[in-house]
Amino acid sequence: MPLVSMRQLLDEAAKGGYGVGAFNVNDMEQIQAIMSAAKETKSPVIVQASRGARAFAEDLYLFKLIQAAAELNPEIPIAMHQDHGNSFETCKSAIELGYTSVMMDGSLKEDGKTPASFEENVAVTKKVVDFAHARGVTVEGEIGVLGGVEDGHGAGGTGLEHITDPDQAVEFAERTGVDALAIAIGTSHGAYKFTKKPDGSVLKMDVLIAIHKRLPNTHLVMHGSSSVPKDLHDVINQYGGKLKETWGVPVEEIQLGIRNGVRKINVDTDNRLAMTGAIRKVLWETPEKFDPRDYMKPAREAMKKVVALRMTQFGQAGHAGDYQPVSIAEIAKGYASGALSIKPLVAAR
Ligand code: 13P
Repeated sequence: MPLVSMRQLLDEAAKGGYGVGAFNVNDMEQIQAIMSAAKETKSPVIVQASRGARAFAEDLYLFKLIQAAAELNPEIPIAMHQDHGNSFETCKSAIELGYTSVMMDGSLKEDGKTPASFEENVAVTKKVVDFAHARGVTVEGEIGVLGGVEDGHGAGGTGLEHITDPDQAVEFAERTGVDALAIAIGTSHGAYKFTKKPDGSVLKMDVLIAIHKRLPNTHLVMHGSSSVPKDLHDVINQYGGKLKETWGVPVEEIQLGIRNGVRKINVDTDNRLAMTGAIRKVLWETPEKFDPRDYMKPAREAMKKVVALRMTQFGQAGHAGDYQPVSIAEIAKGYASGALSIKPLVAAR
């Protein structure tokens, strides 16, 4: 199956009332882990690469690996997504490579660190939407600013500094025409999100629900959605690691989000933890080993287990065969005719 439009994948998820995990990749083993989980659970899937991942793996290696995944798994719809594009040029280069979706994170300036103004965000995101939609490519925007830093991208902080304002979210969606919208509700990238199990004072599900009421047809995106489970954390520390105590986003909160318009859920840290724990265990228990396959195989398996579990928890499991992919050229026609334009329920004031 060719790579699928993320918009189609998310529209189908909205019809079915489920969410789709977007898993970050940097190398072959991570792509294989995701694909084997998708195959086992019969899940459509979003694979995403940050700028850091594209630089680490080199664009062409990474993209050819995704093409191999699509060729080897014709029954699985796969969307390939640029995570946190920092500029028009980054998004353009992903689209020209063949990515079927891009995130223009205009919530930050091009340095990927400094919060941008609302007008700057609207301008750069709209420019990306015009370029992408003409080519049938999906666009995710961001309004509000997430906490933490991932692959050198992020404003830092706890995630509570720039919570999304629902009025701004509506105006942003209306003026840019994005397909999907990442909102800041107190989550942050990385392992250290919360110092205790999050309650409503730090994880603003009420803001998410308010935004969904006004933008029922815009697919909401939850970034920083690793749950940082204690068992993965403990394996690392048991075999010589030094991770501090921490809490992630409870799966029940993500499921509440899914019942309220969240269609894309970004997960990276949980997979990093799973792989690192598995590698540490092998090297700790059998220090005489030096063949990378001896630790990469268990690492790949550990990541697969986490991904398969999330696919089941997010509800995408069992939906891979529900629909036929629409070609990217047809999707471009849908954007051009207005058939795919999304209107807020209540216009911006
Ligand atoms: P985590 O660090 O919680 O896995 O979040 C990943 C993410 O949001 C990628 O954009």
